[in-house]
Order: sequence, then structure tokens, then C-alpha cells
Amino acid sequence: MCGIVGYIGSQDAVPILMEGLARLEYRGYDSAGIAVVSASRTQVCRRVGRVRELEASLPRRLSGKVGIGHTRWATHGPVTEANAHPQSSEDGRISVVHNGIIDNAMELRDELLAKGESFSSETDTEVVAHLIANSGTDSLEQAVMDALRQITGTYAFAVTDQRHPDRIVVARNGSPLILGVGHREMFVASDLSALVRHTTSVVHLDDGELATVTAAGFRTFSQEEENTAKTPVSIDLAADEVDLAGYQHYMRKEILEQPRSVERMLRGRLDDRFGTARLDGLNLSPRDLRGFRRVKILGCGSAYYVGQIGAQLIEELARMPADAEPASEFRYRNPVIEPGTLYVAVSQSGETADTTFAVREVKRKGGHVVGLVNVVGSTIARECDGGIYLHAGPEIAVASTKALTHMAIGFAMLALVLGRVRDLSISDGQRIVAGLKELPGQIEQILASEPQIAEIAASLATARSLFFIGRVRAYPVAREGAQKFKEVTYRHAEAYQASELKHGPLALIDEELPTVAIVPDDDLTDRNLGAVEQIRARNGRLVMITHPAVPEGESQRVTVPKNERELDPVLLIIPIQLMAYHAARVLGRDIDKPRNLAKSVTVE
Ligand code: F6R
Repeated sequence: MCGIVGYIGSQDAVPILMEGLARLEYRGYDSAGIAVVSASRTQVCRRVGRVRELEASLPRRLSGKVGIGHTRWATHGPVTEANAHPQSSEDGRISVVHNGIIDNAMELRDELLAKGESFSSETDTEVVAHLIANSGTDSLEQAVMDALRQITGTYAFAVTDQRHPDRIVVARNGSPLILGVGHREMFVASDLSALVRHTTSVVHLDDGELATVTAAGFRTFSQEEENTAKTPVSIDLAADEVDLAGYQHYMRKEILEQPRSVERMLRGRLDDRFGTARLDGLNLSPRDLRGFRRVKILGCGSAYYVGQIGAQLIEELARMPADAEPASEFRYRNPVIEPGTLYVAVSQSGETADTTFAVREVKRKGGHVVGLVNVVGSTIARECDGGIYLHAGPEIAVASTKALTHMAIGFAMLALVLGRVRDLSISDGQRIVAGLKELPGQIEQILASEPQIAEIAASLATARSLFFIGRVRAYPVAREGAQKFKEVTYRHAEAYQASELKHGPLALIDEELPTVAIVPDDDLTDRNLGAVEQIRARNGRLVMITHPAVPEGESQRVTVPKNERELDPVLLIIPIQLMAYHAARVLGRDIDKPRNLAKSVTVE
């Protein structure tokens, strides 16, 4: 949701801003705009719709060496050109792009209206542009700090001032902002993917921090005007990791990347000798790990479903009570925070507002929280007491695939570590380590059945509604299957525990409602096959995602290689990703940017 880019240097800012905005499209947005500053004027261009529509509407002679740009996801005010960013002061001198929400914008707006100011949009951001312009100081930095003192809320801002065309002033509080350091040029972005084409030398701003950015470099400082003297760090991210690299869609590219990305994630983290994992980033000694009595996992959407897989793994391997809860619910219910509980926040983006607030609630009440996060340096990663980076690489498609597989593996490693300081034997630990090592090759085998999965997907695409069923370990897989299918096909899909079918949903089964049954080869196979029979007896169409040893019925089936039973969900998830992708392709959906969805849900 919402994205920021900025440029200052010797090149024309316009193409750099437009390319940056295109890189941010995947986050989800409904309008876009840029402000370009030259010595004589600031020109602002905005447009509802796609970045390419903005590009087509730009005046031919628009150019300048300084500029800021934005993709907006409407929060304050509807989707209109007037509400798109950049927002300006009344005289057009100040331009502001903003991610986040200003909580006291209405009060401030009323005060400004009472003083005779007028507004051209309904946004909270325009209020900030007015506050900066009215500050009465000639220093842009001072004016921004004055405005920040008056506002409450979350933000990442980039501000230009016609009086100071040699700088962009930026500020961060609760919404990411990164500076990119080039040769006599500087970049600003809310997301690394908008920077990697230009530089790998970056500065992550902290909450409460500001920076003056000029062509010659940058200066970071606090709201109390103290220099924070940040130095750039080098990021390990190649531009082709955020490119399509010949694929038609990021979703398929990211699914197919998994054998390599999983191998990279596991490298150096498995200990064959002691049958455990090395997770130094947790910042927990064996004694600390031993001290926890239960585990509570917090995440949203698909991350929550994988959290359920994680809870199961922890209960099985560490024999500790564990459960997962949607972070979006947890944060609103005044949760009891127990001292002996290890809280685990799980998030691909590391920026999901609901999960971030859940982390803060745990910490506010003295709980201990670690993160399973993909994006390095993201808000959740920084606010947790420790964690496990997922190392899935950038995930651009809105529908999460490889990051989820990495989350499940991250939970397996956490369960292993928690188990090995308890009663999990060295040989059982070694069994799981060996199973983890098998995963990249086994994922490769599943991906080789893509043509068969695509054929099945095409036959499911026309159904008006679908069931996904699974039991115990396989139930979260079914939930994720239904979620992925809904997200990218816009078809109704619902997950049920296979055990619950007879308690109600069976009434819906007929030849028009297909069911995707997740049937692993384990202690519950016979019971699952019983549910399959109940569906078949009612003329329900069936697709089974299963293991080779499970007897063939009349249903269409996709088989995945067998691993250790605890790790089976990791592999069962892969075919449902391809199934959702190919069904959406048949239906001609906007696969990488499904309607109404955003990659990072940074608002409530
Ligand atoms: C599903 C999906 C969402 C996210 C959820 C949490 O494909 O992408 O359900 O899983 O919004 O996002 P993160 O993991 O970034 O916290």
C-alpha cells in the first residue's frame, strides 16, 4: 500500500521517478503522482489509475533534477486526482508525499480553516503541507520539525520546497523509508525494490528520524535536532531479483524459484551432528528457550495459516502447547500476556499494521516476541526481540507463495530448536534435519508436474465455488489453498476440516461443487479417505493432493514426494500455489496485482 520515491542529482528526475513508481506498483494503489522541482517552479502531475496512465499524461517538457513521487492507496478521502499525492501548500511552494495516517488531521484542518486557509483535497497529507508552509521559518528542516511536533500518527514523508530546490527533507515514524546513496546523486524510497536498479548502498531510517537529502549526500537527525550520523550499509539484492526475467508473471517466477531459495535459506543453519538448527538471530540461549512453557504465533491472512502449521510443528516436535491467532484480532482484545510464553510474529513484508500493533501490545505488557520475517530491516524485524530471517528474496506478486513456504520451514527450524532443548531425541532431531535437506529436491519434483497441475486447474477454474478440505496437519494447507484460489481467481473457495464435513457442509456437495482434498500418507489417511468417499457418494467432483502410497481412487490426483510426516505440509502447499496460478491464468485475471488487494497492508 502507498509507495514513495524521490530523486536528487544531475540526471532528469522524471524517468527515474516513473521507473521507481512502476517498481512500487505491486504494493497496491489506486492513483499516482509526481512533483518535479526546478530552479523556477514546482510542477505537480497526478492521475487516478495506473502508473502508465500517469506517464502518458505528463507534459512533454516536464523535467528537473529534483523530484518526489507516490502511489496512493486511498485512506482519507476517495480515489480522486485531487486526493492523489503529492499534496501541496496553498501557494504551491511545498510538496509532500506521505505513507501512513495522521490521526489528528481533522482537528488540525479545522484550526487551519478557522485561520482562513482553504484546502483542495480531503487528505490528511495536505494538512501537513499547510503546516510546513505556515511555519514561519526559512529552514525547510525546521519547518518540517515544527509540523511533526503538531501531528500524531504514523508516517513516512518526503518534502520539497521551491525556496530550497537543492534538497528533499524526509521523516519516518512507523512507516519505512530508505535512502539510496549514488555517485553525486541520492534516492529516496519506501521499498528497496525501487532503489536496487540504482544503488546497493542504503540507509534505513529509524522511527523518529529525519534526513536532509542533497545531490552531494545526506544528513540524518532526530526530532530533537541531534545528528544521528547514520552510515550506509550494502544490500545483497540484485536488480534481476525484482525483474520478471522473461516470466509472464511474478507469481509463477516466485513459485518456481523455491528449490533455490529454500536451499539458500537452509544453508549453514542445520546441524547434522546434534540434530538441531542454528538460529543465532533469536538471541535466546538454550536456558532461555527451555524457560518458555507455551508458544503463541501471531500473523495475518496466509501468514496466520502458516502460523497454524508452525503451531502444529512446535507441538509435535517440542511437545509444548502452541497456537496461532490472527494478529488482527489479538491486538483488539486486550490479550493476557504470560511471562512463560514465547510470542512469534510472522510476516513476509514485516510491515503489516495489524501484526506490528500485536508485537507492540506484547512488548508493552512485558512479553518476549521474536519475528519470522522476510524483509530485512522492516518494522516488525526491528521491533522484535530477535528472530529468523526467511531469506526468500523479494516477493513482488501480491499473492504470497515462496515466502509462505519459507515461513513453514522457519517454523520447522524453530520447533527443532525448542524440541532439542526438551525431549526431542538426537536421532529424531537428525531425522528432521535430513528431511529439511530433502526439501529443495522434492520441491523441484513437484514443480515438474506443473503441466498436469495446470490441466486440473483449468478444469477447476469454471466452478462457481470450491471446497478445500484437510485434517489436522493438512487443515492449514487447505485453508491456504482456499485463500490462494480466492485471491487470484476471484472465485469463491472455502476450507473445512475433513472431519467437519458431515456436520453441515456436506449439504452443499453436488456435481457442480468440486473439492480439493489434501490427503497425506499418515496416521489419518483412512479417515481422510472416508471423507473423500462421502463426497464421491454425493456425486462431488474430487481432486486429491496426496502421496504416492495413498490408494488411487477415481479422483484426479497430484502426488507430492513423502517427507517426514511433520514436514509434509511444506510440500503439500506447493501444488495449491500452482493450481491457483493456472486457474487465474485461464480466467485472464490480473494475477500479480489482484483487484482490491495490496502487498503490504500497512493500514488498519
Ligand atoms: C496472501 C497474502 C496475505 C498476507 C497477509 C499478511 O497471499 O499475501 O494474506 O499473507 O496480508 O502479510 P505479511 O506476511 O506481509 O504480514
